[in-house]
Amino acid sequence: MKVAILGKGDVGTSLALGFKKHGHDVKMGHRDPKESYADAAKFGEIAVLATPWSGTENAITLTDPKNLAGKVVIDVTNPLKFEESQAPQLALGFNDSGGEQVQRWLPQSKVVKCFNIVGHTLMVNPQLPGGPLEMYIAGNDAGAKKTVTQICKQFGWPVVDIGGIEGARLLEPLAMLWVTVGFTLNRWEQAWTLLHK
Ligand SMILES: NC(=O)c1ccc[n+]([C@@H]2O[C@H](COP(=O)([O-])OP(=O)(O)OC[C@H]3O[C@@H](n4cnc5c(N)ncnc54)[C@H](OP(=O)(O)O)[C@@H]3O)[C@@H](O)[C@H]2O)c1
Repeated sequence: MKVAILGKGDVGTSLALGFKKHGHDVKMGHRDPKESYADAAKFGEIAVLATPWSGTENAITLTDPKNLAGKVVIDVTNPLKFEESQAPQLALGFNDSGGEQVQRWLPQSKVVKCFNIVGHTLMVNPQLPGGPLEMYIAGNDAGAKKTVTQICKQFGWPVVDIGGIEGARLLEPLAMLWVTVGFTLNRWEQAWTLLHK
């Protein structure tokens, strides 16, 4: 599959390596005219959105939503706001989420929230004691979630589909808890999973 990675930070780079490792063709986009968001989006059959929340609307504008129309967009962002001398906090919550905002910014795309609840070093084929872990996804389009489920399977994640994109209201606070635990224990190679019989 041809994959556009929008954002060339830690998440974009880790997922780009993961997609390549699993035989996909990758084009990355960022604020560089020689490697632009729009060119990557035109190339991709699907796209991954991996930008800081403060830059996400701008990244989508630079991408041009038309270039993502009809395509699956994997939304890895977390709507974090950083204020001086405070731990990061969620910029949205309770009755809205970053996932829903991204879907509103990309009304013709099929947005699926995925990978936001885990650190970038564990997104592809995580090896943690007690695994395999489960990935939680949310999105409005069943076909898009099927595509993302197949990708997760390649990346070593069984998937739990928690429903429509409003499920991001649960997945984003879960990421916030992950960040809080990370800061508290100064430990980042960790992930949530559900124990069951
Ligand atoms: N880091 C993690 O382990 C992790 C885990 C789960 C979820 N997340 C979420 O995933 C997203 C990406 O995280 P990250 O750590 O990869 O972030 P990051 O390293 O800060 O991402 C940097 C990328 O975002 C682009 N960018 C920054 N500001 C921009 C703006 N105003 N307009 C357009 N593009 C902009 C940069 O473009 P240039 O290259 O042009 O500077 C760069 O390519 C975040 O929403 C984060 O909360 C992160």
